[in-house]
Formats: sequence, structure tokens, C-alpha cells
Amino acid sequence: MKRYIPVSRVEGTASRQAHCDLPEGTYEREMSKEGFFGPAAFFHHRHPPTGWIEFTGPLQPRAFDLAKLPAGPASPWSAPEVLANAHCRIRYWRLTGDMPRLARNADGDELLFVHAGRGELYCDFGHLGIEAGDYVVLPRGTLWRIAAPAPVDLLMIEATNSGYQLPEKGLVGNHAIFDPAMLDAPAIDEAFLAQQSGETHWQVEVRRRNALSLITYPFNPLDAVGWHGDLSVVRINVRDLRPLMSHRYHLPPSAHTTFVAGRFVVCTFAPRPFETDPGALKVPFFHNNDDYDEVLFYHAGDFFSRDNIHPGMMTFHPAGFTHGPHPKALTRMFQQPKPATDEYAVMVDTRDPLDVGPGAASVEWTGYVDSWKGRP
Ligand SMILES: [Fe+2]
Repeated sequence: MKRYIPVSRVEGTASRQAHCDLPEGTYEREMSKEGFFGPAAFFHHRHPPTGWIEFTGPLQPRAFDLAKLPAGPASPWSAPEVLANAHCRIRYWRLTGDMPRLARNADGDELLFVHAGRGELYCDFGHLGIEAGDYVVLPRGTLWRIAAPAPVDLLMIEATNSGYQLPEKGLVGNHAIFDPAMLDAPAIDEAFLAQQSGETHWQVEVRRRNALSLITYPFNPLDAVGWHGDLSVVRINVRDLRPLMSHRYHLPPSAHTTFVAGRFVVCTFAPRPFETDPGALKVPFFHNNDDYDEVLFYHAGDFFSRDNIHPGMMTFHPAGFTHGPHPKALTRMFQQPKPATDEYAVMVDTRDPLDVGPGAASVEWTGYVDSWKGRP
């Protein structure tokens, strides 16, 4: 049996409601346990906590322009590794054309996020068309390939030795954010059956313990004529998400959790109206996210709390790094010129520290740590 040390206190000049009615001229910073779920303290600072004039050392935030990675590897297992730890492996893959071989991940479930393009996914479960904005969950062990007439850019997030589940939606119930009935699954359709004939020689690249094995068949192993069960590849598009919001309270990123795995979560920021209560914050609060490393991939739109960020970029904020709105966004802390956000972004929050992979280093924007400079 254990519980958090009980404290509930208001000291000095302070608001009693998080993210609202800040003392005049102050900036709010949250320190919290368990991401945004656990006990938290809210400080009212005289200066933005990101107002440093110099920042050295390994805690620096990083930014990568993944859209600049070269297109090309025909295999997902050759795609550049961007960030990884023992429980989560993030790759960015720019597929051009059809995959010549089948792929299978024996290390964990794979989540594909289609950043750009469209294609046809053929897998053990059948055929599924995929397009920009799709999340596709591939259960560990699924045999798959993508046929694509034009380039497809994919963010790949592996739940190493683990699997994807849906978050507990608590008070709002299972049908909020997206209804499970919105999940699409592959079909044993004409296209699937048609691809079973023709080619007579297929190879499968199986990845296990991050090493590849190559299996050659004298037939196409995607040859199921049917299946049944309660496990499948599933797909949901970000435009089908109906994000939670409150007109009187800036909800934390945890309200936007889409998938949960063993030691990390995947959240989606989708367009939503700004808060309308005059005292409610309209931008993210400053925070350190002390228990989680934070990764954000910018998919589409105008990123309201960040400057100099465009679609295809990824930012990495290690746990303990204080961050919050950029100075320009901070001027809109309580008043936004637009009625709603216009951004789609994928967030990965990992409980364990991530290492930057060689693929990311080649497209790093080294000036990111300085991007908070300047007065709001
Ligand atoms: Fe954050």
C-alpha cells in the first residue's frame, strides 16, 4: 500500500484554480508527478521560465526536420531511427513505390502514422487503403506490405515488447474522443484476393531483437481466404477525433491521449475551439513534465504555441526541461485572434529517457534551444 504525501496549500499571491486567473503580470509553471495525472504544484513567476540567455548541456531540447530525410529505403527496417529507448522506437520512413518484400515486427506492436501520401496496405487480415492522417495499429507479428503509386511519408512508433491499447476514458466514457465503431479493419476483398496470384516468389523480413531474418517462400504468404477473432489491424484518421475541451479550463495534453502502450502514451492534438472564459489560459502552461520525455511530431496546420515549426518537424523535450509557449504565442496567453486551433500533431510521452538516433542528427535544427529568446 502506498499513496502520495498529502499536501494542499496556497502560499503567497496565488490563484486557487490551475491555469486560470493568474496574479497580474505572472507566468504559470506546473510541476507534476505522472505527467499530468498526479499531484502538482503551480508557481506564479515574474518572468517566463523559458527566458534563459544561455543554455548548455545535454538537457537541451532538440528539433528535427524529418521532411528533409532522404526518401528511399524500400524496407521499413532500413528507415532512419529518430528516437529510441528499450520500450519505444520511433522511425521516419519515406517510402517511394511498392515494398518489394513483406515485413513483420516480432519485437512489438507497430503504430504507423501516415504523414503524407496514400497507399494500399496488404496484411494477414486483408486489404486496407491508407491516407494522410491515418493511424494504423499493426499487432506484433502481423505480416504486411504497402503498395504505393506515389511517395508515402510514415512515422513509425514501435511499442517494444508491448502492445497498443486504448486509454481509460473515465468520466466521459468509451465513446468519447472517438467511438470504437470508427475503427476500420482490413477486408478480404477483391484487391486482396487478386494480389494472392501472380507473384510466385515472396520474401519476408522479420525483425526480432532489432536484427533481421529473411524468409523466402515460393508463394505469397498473404494468402488467407478469411479469418475471425477479436484481434486485428485497425485504422483511425485524425480528422475523426473529437477532442475534449473546456471553455473555462485549458486541458492538459493527457486529455488528448489516443493510444497507450507499456511505458509510453500517444496523444493527438486536433483542431478545437480556444477557451472563452476571460481568466482561462489559452496557451499551454509552462512545465517540466518531470516524469516523461516528450516528443511532438507536427503533421498539419498552424502550430499555435510554437514559432518556426512546420509540418514534418519533430521536437524532443527531455524530462526536466522547462518549456512552454514561444514568446510570440505568449502575447496571446489570454486572448486569441482566432476562434479555434488549426493544428494536428502527434505526441509521444515516454516514461523512460529516449536516445537520439543517427537518422535524426542529420536533419537537426540546432538553433531550437534559442527559439524561446526574446521578450513576449
Ligand atoms: Fe510539454
